[in-house]
Amino acid sequence: MYKILLRENLVPNIHLFKVEAPAVARKAQAGQFVMVRVDERGERIPLTIADWDRDEGSITIVFMEVGTTTRKLATVKAGDSIATFVGPLGKPSEIERFGTVVCVAGGFAIATIVPIARALKEVGNRVISIMGFRTKDLVFWEDRLGKFSDEMIVTTDDGSYKRKGMVTQPLKELLEMGERIDRVVAIGPTAMMKFCAQTTQPFGVKTIVSLNPIMVDGTGMCGCCRVSVGGVTKFACVDGPEFNGHEVDWNLLLARRNIYLDEEARSLRIWSAKISHE
Ligand SMILES: Cc1cc2nc3c(=O)[nH]c(=O)nc-3n(C[C@H](O)[C@H](O)[C@H](O)COP(=O)(O)OP(=O)(O)OC[C@H]3O[C@@H](n4cnc5c(N)ncnc54)[C@H](O)[C@@H]3O)c2cc1C
Ligand code: FES
Repeated sequence: MYKILLRENLVPNIHLFKVEAPAVARKAQAGQFVMVRVDERGERIPLTIADWDRDEGSITIVFMEVGTTTRKLATVKAGDSIATFVGPLGKPSEIERFGTVVCVAGGFAIATIVPIARALKEVGNRVISIMGFRTKDLVFWEDRLGKFSDEMIVTTDDGSYKRKGMVTQPLKELLEMGERIDRVVAIGPTAMMKFCAQTTQPFGVKTIVSLNPIMVDGTGMCGCCRVSVGGVTKFACVDGPEFNGHEVDWNLLLARRNIYLDEEARSLRIWSAKISHE
């Protein structure tokens, strides 16, 4: 069992857990993830490692409530324990001195990109960060990402905070300004990553995305996380989750993510009904 040492509600539907997991903390690196199961009967879900403390033996995860398992996880309190916490899984982010790197993140993925921006900054890159949210009430960790960024741009879809619009607009402007940009790292909802990759493609700037297909085991055995990158089949859990966004077959990824929509909706209905009777 893995004890929740700390719990914070970052915004209404996004929560932070610090989990006691010394074996995972010893090896964790930016870009990797863990497979989590709330209880003995629960499904396994992948969540990215947002931070780690090797001395304390803890891992921080940040998750958004979207369906049954993430809502169930949100009911766990500090001091409680969860059944499974396996990791670190996946390949770590490629960290080198590239030059100027633009880090783009949307929603819960702000937490995912912070350790990547930190690692890129530590080896001497100039880091420009663009963070996007639907609205002002969902903004979090602007200060934390700002610590590792030479420049910060914040957008909200509705214009309620900082710049109005999508993250792709400032990204396009940076590229059009003609300033040298050596790499873009874009992490967030699938559509956001797809449009970031489409924005950078005409400029020939390598764009790394972190793919989020459905995963079951997270260790390369089930084939559930199959994606197509550069015309080659890859398993996101062991070959990724980070890939060159210009080579991803986005339509296949989006289609495969939607395979279980009916089952997911049914599961959420059953769980919500059970919870409301407790
Ligand atoms: C490598 C990786 C890292 C991730 N990191 C984070 C993170 O740090 N924070 C975070 O909030 N979310 C993260 N996700 C997404 C998270 O795993 C899903 O939101 C979660 O599995 C949904 O489970 P659910 O039962 O709550 O919702 P469901 O009802 O199962 O699904 C809701 C939506 O989530 C998608 N989904 C369902 N199951 C999975 C699955 N096993 N893996 C991926 N997507 C799924 C479906 O397409 C569906 O549209 C990550 C996904 C991957 C692949
Ligand atoms: S999750 Fe099973 S092979 Fe990747």
